[in-house]
Amino acid sequence: MQIISVINQKGGVGKTTTVINLAAGLVHQEKKVLVIDLDPQGNATTGLGLSNLENSSETIYGVLNGTKTISDVIKKTDYKNLDIVSSNVDLSGLEIETAGDSERAFILKGKLTAYLNDSRGSYDYILIDCPPSLSLITVMALVSSHSLVVPLQTEFFALEGLTQLMKTIERIKVSLNPQLQIRGILLTMYDKRNKLSAQVEKEARDYFNDKVYQTVIPRNVRLSEAPSHGMPVLIYDKFCLGSKSYFSFTDEFINQEQKIARKV
Ligand SMILES: Nc1ncnc2c1ncn2[C@@H]1O[C@H](COP(=O)(O)OP(=O)(O)OP(=O)(O)O)[C@@H](O)[C@H]1O
Ligand SMILES: [Mg+2]
Repeated sequence: MQIISVINQKGGVGKTTTVINLAAGLVHQEKKVLVIDLDPQGNATTGLGLSNLENSSETIYGVLNGTKTISDVIKKTDYKNLDIVSSNVDLSGLEIETAGDSERAFILKGKLTAYLNDSRGSYDYILIDCPPSLSLITVMALVSSHSLVVPLQTEFFALEGLTQLMKTIERIKVSLNPQLQIRGILLTMYDKRNKLSAQVEKEARDYFNDKVYQTVIPRNVRLSEAPSHGMPVLIYDKFCLGSKSYFSFTDEFINQEQKIARKV
């Protein structure tokens, strides 16, 4: 069972799109997946066809404020083997509400550990969708995860924010979660007509080498339409370029484990 956060403090880089479609891709390959929406915007929630206007005690907020367990708030999606812990705007109050708790960075980890200890180990992956900030909520995700997938939009300024993210990750590794690893960097919204996309790709590959996935997600209109129908693009339009790219990313993601297993 792997806990993986999809993270980048920059907004609108494809985090939620990656969570939804990696989850759908993994399910397509017979894996069982739980998505945890850890963003007060609730985009992963609506993108998977659920409401983000529900009573907040039934969401991740209810878990993090101590009233609920993870298993209390897991909901089914329309897709077999794909479940979700939803989110809504009340989550944005958590930082202030927990201000007096010196252990608050560990709340999510504690809840996940309790869940894993007494559940029958039913998921292969837990994917966490992070908000666009390096706030408490993001730190909770970093503390709880085995590894990270970092979507990087192939636009100007994309790499600048990454330096700050890397520093934060290093700090968390030293002090709060030594096992944390970057599983990979995923280039998103690639526009092959735009020279800048190719340039950002080259810089990212030169700097991060094989940490950058070979698969590149193109800018694709079907990808942006799918969430308004509450569906992964892999279901909305299985044959579009966006779907092809997320199927290929899922293969690459799963193959990473086979590579690691062979090394051991
Ligand atoms: N490859 C793509 N091609 C076209 N549109 C995309 C692509 N990836 C994401 N989008 C669209 O871009 C917008 C931002 O994507 P998304 O919500 O996945 O980013 P995010 O990093 O989760 O944003 P936030 O930081 O606000 O949580 C959305 O409207 C989404 O549908
Ligand atoms: Mg998002």
